Amino acid sequence: MVFTMPPHAERLILPAQDSPASHLSTAHGDLVVPPVRLPERAVEVETVRLAELVHAAREAAVAAYAPFSKFRVGAALVMGDDPEGEIIPGSNVENSSYGGTVCAERTAIFSASARGFRRLRWLAVSTVATLGAELRDRSPCGICRQVIREFADGETLVLCDNGAPGVLAEVFDIERLLPSGFRFAPEA
Ligand code: THU
Repeated sequence: MVFTMPPHAERLILPAQDSPASHLSTAHGDLVVPPVRLPERAVEVETVRLAELVHAAREAAVAAYAPFSKFRVGAALVMGDDPEGEIIPGSNVENSSYGGTVCAERTAIFSASARGFRRLRWLAVSTVATLGAELRDRSPCGICRQVIREFADGETLVLCDNGAPGVLAEVFDIERLLPSGFRFAPEA
């Protein structure tokens, strides 16, 4: 079988993260800092499609309903099990109760799930007010990371719109986005 790269695909290296565990023995039992062991991996990225996706996330932010925080966030995703490869948008929807607010990433993922899709391939997220700021001011919140994990697999890539000239996005796979993310694995 001949391996052919998809059109416009280029190779991106996600670098290894490797640090040992550390322990502190105490009278109450050990305190354990778990090791980080992520091998380097290469992923094929269809750069034209990823650029489209970041653009779509920026556009989705325009539709945000954010009267309370005024912080508009847009997301755009493609599901791996969607034969059409459609770009599905989402934006944050705030609520008077505050607690009823849903983030842009989850809005997009729930929309994809409601269409019957389950495998997240690419997700881009874009803020408006904080483009160019530190990653923590632009990247998915903890709840969204866990929801992303629910539909993520080895092919999933998450892109954070960066906004700096000449930079398309920061890129994460699920292990780098949410190390040791919760897994509910009840016995069958
Ligand atoms: N928000 C998102 O849409 N995505 C995130 O990952 C973080 C926060 C929204 C929620 C709320 O409407 C506003 O940003 C301020 O937190």
